[in-house]
Amino acid sequence: MCGIVGYIGEQQAAPVLLDGLAKLEYRGYDSAGMAVCDNGEIRMVKATGRLKVLEALTKGGSTLPGTAGIGHTRWATHGSPTDTNAHPHFNGSASIAVVHNGIIENYQKLKRKLESRGYHFVSETDTEVIAHLLDRYYTGSPLEAITKVMHRMEGSYALGIIFQDHPDEIYAVRKDSPLIVGKSSAGNLIASDVPAILKYTRSVYFMENEEIAKLTRDDITFYNIDEEELEKEPTEISWDLSAAEKGGYDYFMMKEIYEQPKAITDTISPRIRDGKIVIEELGMTDEEIAQISKIYIVACGSAYHAGVTGKYVLEGMARIPVEVDLASEFRYRNPILDEQTLVIVISQSGETADSLAALREAKAKGSRILGIVNVVGSSIAREADNVFYTWAGPEISVATTKAYSTQLAALYLLAMKFSNVRGTITNEELTSMIEQLQQLPRQIEFLLGSHDRIQKFANRFLAADHIFFIGRGLDYAISLEGSLKLKEISYIHSEAYAAGELKHGTISLIEDGTPVVAVLTQEELYRKTISNIQEVRTRGAFVMTVTNANHTDVEKNADFVMYLPETNSYFTNSLAVIPLQLFAYYVALGRGLDVDKPRNLAKSVTVE
Ligand code: G6P
Repeated sequence: MCGIVGYIGEQQAAPVLLDGLAKLEYRGYDSAGMAVCDNGEIRMVKATGRLKVLEALTKGGSTLPGTAGIGHTRWATHGSPTDTNAHPHFNGSASIAVVHNGIIENYQKLKRKLESRGYHFVSETDTEVIAHLLDRYYTGSPLEAITKVMHRMEGSYALGIIFQDHPDEIYAVRKDSPLIVGKSSAGNLIASDVPAILKYTRSVYFMENEEIAKLTRDDITFYNIDEEELEKEPTEISWDLSAAEKGGYDYFMMKEIYEQPKAITDTISPRIRDGKIVIEELGMTDEEIAQISKIYIVACGSAYHAGVTGKYVLEGMARIPVEVDLASEFRYRNPILDEQTLVIVISQSGETADSLAALREAKAKGSRILGIVNVVGSSIAREADNVFYTWAGPEISVATTKAYSTQLAALYLLAMKFSNVRGTITNEELTSMIEQLQQLPRQIEFLLGSHDRIQKFANRFLAADHIFFIGRGLDYAISLEGSLKLKEISYIHSEAYAAGELKHGTISLIEDGTPVVAVLTQEELYRKTISNIQEVRTRGAFVMTVTNANHTDVEKNADFVMYLPETNSYFTNSLAVIPLQLFAYYVALGRGLDVDKPRNLAKSVTVE
């Protein structure tokens, strides 16, 4: 799970590489490196730590001359984050340099074989195997060496490669890890993701599995693994670079929290036409929708939490049984699936390794796969039978906010569509729900206006050791997300509990002053959760509640209350998540942490 870039053109390569890497730091940021070809020699600099260390070391790239090079920002998988393990990696004579994103699953076997032939390894990485393997098969043709190596490697890889003997070429290779190629008048580029090259071009080729690209200063040629030339068409990127930059906010996370009204509007409005839900990309006839016997929702992290909300909404509204599973569990548990089962895979990046593997498992069993994906052209989007794109735009902060909110919106639209087709809601109910759905962006804007109040409250918990979240039904689903948001960026231990389950253990952890966040938006469960609040308060808990505006009586039982505007009871999580995101953000900010780049985490988890 790393970011790679490459450049060949008329400009000095190193500054271009640093520029691109800065846009890819969200993919990993424990070390970085570059290799540049200059006067028939490959020179390399790498450094442990954030990109700014590499920037300082190379004086913004100026100490590394040359107009063709590759760069890498790393998130360690094999071997700890050290200078030696940082990329690029080399063959013994330093004539071939490689940057890699992914995992070579059979690297130990390959390493043993290479060692028995006298190859000497310096790092603990799987990537170094690629450099030595290329050396082993290189007899003058880079393409031939690359394809031979591809035949021997198992696992996932996006690669950038330079050969000292071919100083006017860089090579890109892709299998199961994202890689794009950009063509510009200033030269040609490769990158793990679009923002890295948007400054130079909007004309982008999405590489497919087992494809190779050869880039020269003014040409790009694509090949398959049989060394046959391929014809590929570029895609014009329509979104702006400013969409991938902070735009005046201190952190991307805050910018992305504020982008939620727009992201939700962009996701729902193309799917509402003349008072009806129209989801053309679903590719399902009404008959097929009527025949769905079961839905599995499979995802990781916050996307899984969106799925938990989806279960309550789809079951409640459309009366279809729904099971939600973590992709890492689903893929190994031999799930019972058939052609009437719809499997929904939710993923912001569309590249999460476990979610992709779960998709393949379900596909092999004959189920229809619907991807709810944010990144266009990503692996999950390409492999699903149908894709429902969430239009959140690029999300940079590791902790997701706007992508999560658009996933909720996508699930509501699906539930409304299925319910309408299956006759579990009337046309009048649908009309009223559509109106309520369309009001969500404005209501979120209203809630964002309370950020000062939430910041003041959050500042009281900067030294907390534990914070608990409780709720029932949909309020439990949003508690899971509120708790994850807090722990991932503030490093405060936090757990979410179904409020009714408290008595079975967790309540023993409540002491004088323990912060508890209680969510109560479901009218029929309100009294039940109030009883749970009373139980924790009796034991000294300090309680924040998030509830509906009509429940001012909650103030008797709470130390701080956030009121939500009125909406349909199925949509409350879209509103409740706002104070929870702000709370997590301000606690992390108050603790002086790097909100966008929490330790040990990465945005796109492309390894198992
Ligand atoms: C990482 C991110 C989370 C995200 C999860 C799943 O853990 O930090 O924000 O929810 O991966 O990612 P996906 O791209 O599949 O939604």
